[in-house]
Amino acid sequence: MIEIQNLYRSFDGNRVFQGVSLKVEKGEVLALIGRSGCGKSVLLKHVAGLLKPERGRVIVDGREMDLARRRSLAALRERLGFLFQGGALFDSMNLFENVAFPLREKTRLSDKRIQARVLEELDNVGLSGSEYKYPSQVSGGMVKRAALARALVGDPEIMLFDEPTTGLDPVTGRAIIELIDACHRRLNFTGIIVTHEISMVFGIVDRVAMLHKGVVWAEGTPARLFASEDPVVQAFVGGFQHLEEGQG
Ligand SMILES: Nc1ncnc2c1ncn2[C@@H]1O[C@H](COP(=O)(O)OP(=O)(O)O)[C@@H](O)[C@H]1O
Ligand SMILES: [Mg+2]
Repeated sequence: MIEIQNLYRSFDGNRVFQGVSLKVEKGEVLALIGRSGCGKSVLLKHVAGLLKPERGRVIVDGREMDLARRRSLAALRERLGFLFQGGALFDSMNLFENVAFPLREKTRLSDKRIQARVLEELDNVGLSGSEYKYPSQVSGGMVKRAALARALVGDPEIMLFDEPTTGLDPVTGRAIIELIDACHRRLNFTGIIVTHEISMVFGIVDRVAMLHKGVVWAEGTPARLFASEDPVVQAFVGGFQHLEEGQG
């Protein structure tokens, strides 16, 4: 469903990617890990067609993002949901209006249909009863849930989550991950979850890819990464395993 072939990208002479290749099969969920600044957000933006490859190709459902005509790129974006890092909502809109926004922008659904769809999606993420509150009136976890509902409301086939748990306490973070997992079971989207908190997502992803030095440094099932003897992978994954064991 998603295929990245030999992707190169620099910003102001600073090389971020030097030959990234990665595949995500239909219905699969991949965790994308790596140090801060290694290019995880930049990679998601290439998949979403928000950034163009300097060299290499990004193919989504058989279409090359770079060469796609503007119309097919727009059509592709409609099938894609993006939970941006920070997951910001529009502060001036209540949760209902925030979730309704993509439907009003992208579809010609009637107000009645939109209302039904938005209330359903807010219910799915456990926000029934808070529809008409503003982002400043609810907790960080609820803001994240609403952002998730907004990303999911168009029934995307592809979901990109950029650090969905960052900034949340562990209990709330885990609840968000469980919610993502439940949504995946229901919708069976193809997904990429960018995260620092590897231990949290290892239970729900099919595969993990680690970005390092501009390439996919390591890739495999969570178990395979845990078992890796590569010191770079161990520095990332081993520490978490140790922590988990310590917590019993
Ligand atoms: N629009 C941009 N302009 C210039 N540099 C950028 C831009 N977006 C990202 N970068 C740089 O690319 C690198 C990777 O960034 P990013 O993908 O945000 O890292 P992370 O893995 O933490 O998500 C960083 O060095 C960042 O400063
Ligand atoms: Mg990032």
